Amino acid sequence: MSATAVVLFAHPAEEASRTGAMLADKVEGMNGVSVRRLYDLYPDFDVHVEQEQAAWDAADVIVLQHPFYWYSSPALLKEYLDVVLEHGWAYGKGARALSGKSLLSVITTGGSDAAYSAAGHNQFTVEELLRPFEATAHLCGMTYEPPLTLHNANHVSDDMRADFLGTYERRLASLLAARSVEVGRVA
Ligand SMILES: Cc1cc2nc3c(=O)[nH]c(=O)nc-3n(C[C@H](O)[C@H](O)[C@H](O)COP(=O)(O)O)c2cc1C
Repeated sequence: MSATAVVLFAHPAEEASRTGAMLADKVEGMNGVSVRRLYDLYPDFDVHVEQEQAAWDAADVIVLQHPFYWYSSPALLKEYLDVVLEHGWAYGKGARALSGKSLLSVITTGGSDAAYSAAGHNQFTVEELLRPFEATAHLCGMTYEPPLTLHNANHVSDDMRADFLGTYERRLASLLAARSVEVGRVA
């Protein structure tokens, strides 16, 4: 059995997106990858918990793809995680629904690489600022994968965008390949 990934793409202004929308469109064409555009699905923030839990249940790899907004995710993704990751399902005594699945953050930022450092304008690295997502994965028994970040997304060249897409595709493919081996071993 082949492994699958679900990309939860959270962009409040997809029509104005130069990078995130392109990335989501491209990875959607990969074998075993589906994309859920959260702002299309839930424009009123009324997240369908059962439907979303079913999407997590069915996937081996969960990707949180979004632009960095105030050093975190756009608001709908926070609401989404608040309501979908229920006690007794995602975490808590005996909750094993997400155990062993991979969680990967894919981020675009307006700020530069240099700005995201101890000596830089933003003081912290993106990895440090993503700690709440890392802690969430840990609490749910998931494997937190090293995040992918495209800095300076509004100003990078088309070549750099294409390079980042290649990195994203290769990471997804290798996570899916590793998970497929595990699925095969268990079956
Ligand atoms: C409300 C808002 C908050 C933002 N906060 C940040 C931020 O904290 N750090 C940062 O580097 N960029 C920030 N940005 C810039 C976006 O991350 C950037 O424009 C986006 O990643 C570009 O990708 P896109 O072409 O898919 O929209 C912010 C943009 C908006 C509109």
